[in-house]
Amino acid sequence: MSDRIDQLREDFRRESGEVTGEQEATALRDRWVGRKSGLLTAEMKTLGRLSPEDRRLTGQLLNHLKEEIEQELELLESRFAAARELAQLASEQIDVTLPGRHLPAGHLHPITLLRQRIEDIFVSMGYHIEDGPEIETDFYNFDALNIPAIHPARSRQDTFYITGKLALRSQTSTVQIHSMQRRQPPLRVIAPGRVFRRDTPDATHNPMFYQVEGLLVERGITLGDLKGTIEEFVRRMFGPQTRTRFRPSYFPFVEPGAEIDYSCFKCGGTGCRVCKGSGWIEMGGSGMVHPNVLRGVGIDPDEYTGFAFGLGLDRLCALMYGLDDIRLLYENDIRFLEQFR
Ligand code: DAH
Repeated sequence: MSDRIDQLREDFRRESGEVTGEQEATALRDRWVGRKSGLLTAEMKTLGRLSPEDRRLTGQLLNHLKEEIEQELELLESRFAAARELAQLASEQIDVTLPGRHLPAGHLHPITLLRQRIEDIFVSMGYHIEDGPEIETDFYNFDALNIPAIHPARSRQDTFYITGKLALRSQTSTVQIHSMQRRQPPLRVIAPGRVFRRDTPDATHNPMFYQVEGLLVERGITLGDLKGTIEEFVRRMFGPQTRTRFRPSYFPFVEPGAEIDYSCFKCGGTGCRVCKGSGWIEMGGSGMVHPNVLRGVGIDPDEYTGFAFGLGLDRLCALMYGLDDIRLLYENDIRFLEQFR
C-alpha cells in the first residue's frame, strides 16, 4: 500500500511541476483534493474496505500525503496570486508627472461677443433689450415704418417674401413698432437680431446678417440727445478719444435722418487700411422718429419725440478682427471660430 502512496506522491509532484498558471493550479487542486472527484478523496473512500489494522496505517500515510499536497498547492497558488497582483499594479501605474489633458470647451461666437458688449453699454444707459419676430407682415416691415407703397425696399428683388404679405424682416427697425405697441413712453430699447436681404453673397455681403436697433421716446427729446447718446456709445465701445460725425441722409421712418460715422479705432482718424484712408468708419443710420411712425402706434408726436438708430454688427466685427470675408462668420468652420476664444 505504501508503494501506491509513493506512486501518488510522485504523480502529484510531477503534475505540480508542470503547472504554469493560476488556472492550472486550481485545476490541479480539483483533480487531487476536489471534494467530489479528487484522486486523493477517492483514495480515502477505499479505506473502509481495509482491515482495521491496515486502515489505521494507510489512513495515517494518506493523511500525511494530503497535508503535503495541500501545502504544495497553497504555495503554488500564492506564488501565482502574487505574480498577478504585481502585473496588475504595473498596469495600473499612474505617472503623476504627466501634464493634464486639455478638455475642449466651447466658447461664444464672435458676433455674440460683440452683441453682448453693445448690449452691456446700452443696458448701463437704461435701455431694455427687445425682441421681435424674424417673419413679419407688410404692416411691420413697411407700412408702420412710413415706407411708401412704391419704395424699392418692398420689391421682390430686395426682400425674401414667404407669401404675398409675409416676408423675412430686412431690418430690425420693425422691432421699433413692436416696442411702442408693448410699452408706453418714456421708453428706451435696443433690439439686436438677424435680418435678411436678397443680396448676392460676396466678401462684404451675406443674405443674413445682424443689426442692433435702438429707440428712445420721451418728452422733449432732440437731435442733441441722439448725438450725445451715440457719442457716449462709441467712446465706451472704442475708447474715449473716438469722435463721431453725422451726415444728413434719408430713411422713411425718421426726419431728419443721418448716417453716423466714427473716427477709425485703428488709426484714430489719420487714415489707414481699416478706414480705407478716410479716417472715418460708417456705423449705421439714425434720426428723429418720424411723426407718422409715432402716430401710427397711437403716440402723440406733439407730446413725445424720440430718436432711433440702427447698426450693422457683421461689418463692424469684420473690421475689428481684420476679417477679409464676412461669410467666414457663418460657415461654422471650427478652425476659424477657435481664434475667438
Ligand atoms: N434700418 C436701417 C437699415 O437697415 C438703419 C436705420 C436707419 C435704422 C435709420 C434706424 C434709423 O433706426 O433711424 O439700413
